Amino acid sequence: MSETVAALEKALGGLKPDTALVLGSGLGDLVNEVPNPVRIPYGDLPNFLKSGVTGHAGQVVAGHLAGRPVVMLAGRAHYYEHANAAAMRPALEALAGIGVKKLILTNAAGSLEPGMGPGSVMLIADHINFSGSNPLFGEPTDRRFVGLTEAYDRGLCSAIEAAAVATGTPLHKGVYMWFSGPSFETPAEIRMARIVGANAVGMSTVPEVILARFFGMRVAACSVITNLAAGMTGSELSHQETKDMAPLGGARLAAILKRMFADGLD
Ligand code: HPA
Repeated sequence: MSETVAALEKALGGLKPDTALVLGSGLGDLVNEVPNPVRIPYGDLPNFLKSGVTGHAGQVVAGHLAGRPVVMLAGRAHYYEHANAAAMRPALEALAGIGVKKLILTNAAGSLEPGMGPGSVMLIADHINFSGSNPLFGEPTDRRFVGLTEAYDRGLCSAIEAAAVATGTPLHKGVYMWFSGPSFETPAEIRMARIVGANAVGMSTVPEVILARFFGMRVAACSVITNLAAGMTGSELSHQETKDMAPLGGARLAAILKRMFADGLD
């Protein structure tokens, strides 16, 4: 792993960001808000796993967002691509290794709430791991017993909520349920998800939250809603719909995140 940290540090020059963003579907344009960025293709970083999912770039983009140092992971490797819930472990371990202390994750998700339709943004208050997997399977040390009672950092969540208010951007708050994917859920699974307390469903983020807590980072996460979940409308779900609809909520979430950076986050 130290070779990954060394490669990343070298590429970043003297830049020492303490905050990182993982850009999911719809957030890719946020890299354009970074003037004169350093761009490093994942392929140039040892151990980094690439995403083969269309709509996901595969590069580290570093520089300043609203004047503050940041490192962005534009594109993520998913559990369903690699059959490995720890697909993002090398990338997150490298971020921790260069001194990143705060991680903000973004994703596209399906909504269980008729009043939280496509284009909405949801702050993840808590999650349900329904994948049956865990990125810490096989971790041999006692550090694997990571507490998740406060997985989502209060301070970072408050800063996101404050930035939403300041920008006049509606922000929902709810529970995200991780399904392994890559097939979408069935209507029966969505009815179950509602019964157990989920507000949105998706195929990412939860393993990264667990890993980030394992590495001692503070975490916050937001979903951009691309669709109402399976069985809630007459139509079938598709990845094309995710890609088409993500930029809508993505632009809203980008405004929130820019404001959050401008105001500073501690
Ligand atoms: N289910 C799972 N993942 C998703 C969805 C969904 O409905 N929409 C976008 N990502």
